[in-house]
Amino acid sequence: MPQPDDAPRTDGTSTAILVAVAWPYANNHLHVGHLAGAYIPADVFARYHRMRGNRVLMVSGSDSHGTPVTVRAEEEGTTPEAIFQRYHESFLRTFEGYGISFDLFTSTDTENHRDVVQDIFLRLLERDYMYEAEQELLYDPKVARFLPDRYVEGTCPKCGYESARGDQCDNCGSTLDAVDLINPRSRLSDATPERRKTSHFFLKLSAFNDRLLEWVESKEGWRPHVKNFTIGMLKEGLHDRAITRDLTWGVPIPLEGYDDKRIYVWFEAVIGYLSAAKEWAASDLNPTGDAEAWRDWWQSPEAGTYYFIGKDNVPFHTVIWPAILMGYGDLNLPTDVPANQYLTMSGAKASKSRGGVVWAPDALERYDPDPMRYYLTAAAPETSDSDFTWDEFVRRNNDELVARWGNLVNRVLTITRRNFEERVPEPPAQLSEESTALLARVDEAFGPVGESFEGVQLRRALNGAMEVATAANQYLDARQPWVRVKEDRDHAAETLFVALNVISGLASLLNPILPFTSQKVWTLLAHDGEVQAAGWQRTPVVAGTTLPAPEPLFKKLDDSVVEEEAARLAR
Ligand code: MF3
Ligand code: ZN
Repeated sequence: MPQPDDAPRTDGTSTAILVAVAWPYANNHLHVGHLAGAYIPADVFARYHRMRGNRVLMVSGSDSHGTPVTVRAEEEGTTPEAIFQRYHESFLRTFEGYGISFDLFTSTDTENHRDVVQDIFLRLLERDYMYEAEQELLYDPKVARFLPDRYVEGTCPKCGYESARGDQCDNCGSTLDAVDLINPRSRLSDATPERRKTSHFFLKLSAFNDRLLEWVESKEGWRPHVKNFTIGMLKEGLHDRAITRDLTWGVPIPLEGYDDKRIYVWFEAVIGYLSAAKEWAASDLNPTGDAEAWRDWWQSPEAGTYYFIGKDNVPFHTVIWPAILMGYGDLNLPTDVPANQYLTMSGAKASKSRGGVVWAPDALERYDPDPMRYYLTAAAPETSDSDFTWDEFVRRNNDELVARWGNLVNRVLTITRRNFEERVPEPPAQLSEESTALLARVDEAFGPVGESFEGVQLRRALNGAMEVATAANQYLDARQPWVRVKEDRDHAAETLFVALNVISGLASLLNPILPFTSQKVWTLLAHDGEVQAAGWQRTPVVAGTTLPAPEPLFKKLDDSVVEEEAARLAR
């Protein structure tokens, strides 16, 4: 098959990889917890697979429906549409700024999404995986409305947490039914909610219990917290769940006589992964123009489908969404759901109610995207909660990005250009043992670092790459090309030639995490095109190539940043 010049070099096998990323509620800006929990890991994983030559489809969109959006609209005295539009724009700018490279970031407020959801709804109904039943729900007599999901708060029946919401407990992660809350409180008035009968559609989750358990138990390599939580939930036994609500904002029920009800936000939002793939395939974004191309990710048994979400979303992705997929049939179940735990903000506990959050758009006004991507990858809550601190951000930026990686690039380029007429020097015919060993070190790193990316062990991948940078610095310090160049030019020529080649390898190894600065390094090495397109390997730097003048990759941050940011958080 002919390939365009900038197509990735591959070993001939190309796998379809769906990178499915949580759909953020369009009711507020994103904060660093969202970035660390889902968007950055998803993007790192997608960029790695693109370098491998795999066919990546990375999709998500604004979750425009549900009570998070309507509650916000009511608080502001505006419409849910206006709220959704405002934050949808904000999300797009945030992704652009942080280099989160979606193939499509759409929303649940599209005709396509509505059609796909309604089709699934009707098929599940037809197959008896759904039924209609009367249900007693909480009703606010003062405002004459039912109180779905976030319109009611109360004490969690599972763990006793006092501020559980009607849909979910943030403390223990249980999905809840609002009627089960102890001491429920309406968020619309001071009235005590009463129970009233209303009719809704139920998803027969109980019918999938055994199949789901067998499926999850067969999964190897899933994060223990994801697998154990899911197995626990399935062993406890699933209850059928209402998947419609008394609301007028959301996807309509495709049957006569339900004008004042909508499909439950969680039932339809997870369907977004499929509807977005269909939207992408039918759009100009799809280079093949084949509107059926979505099938490569959803129906091909070789495809990999990975869901990047925070831990509060686990039950919806390991139980409810797979049940919907099983019920509909002929669609791939998740390959892995590498959910992250929480990123905590210990320095900010004092003012949790107002501040205490590092907003993604705001941080980008003061810091470059790559240092944020780096720190949020290095400190990602992969296996347990981890703490965001500005102290650590500054330390990692200064010690690791500036001193270890940025200075390596800068000093090698500067010494080379100054002493070898701005060109890559000619190495000797026979490289010394230490030079050969260092080149082997970087080339061999592509194996284990690649495996870490594949297994979504991104901290480990980052460490594996940075160890190569450490080895390169040790090599330079031992061989001192800046001194040797005066007495033994050939020795220095060899050192710099090797160092430039190691830097080339590091630009590729680090590119999934540091896409902006890796591309800069690529250009400084006088390589053509994009580092991304060069494949998952070191691209050789050729003797005689003229090198452009280097510019610093990273800025050293003053320690005062820590106090400035602490003050900001406390505001
Ligand atoms: N909107 C939900 C949240 O912000 C996440 C939905 S992920 C989905 O928690 F794909 F299921 F929609
Ligand atoms: Zn709870």
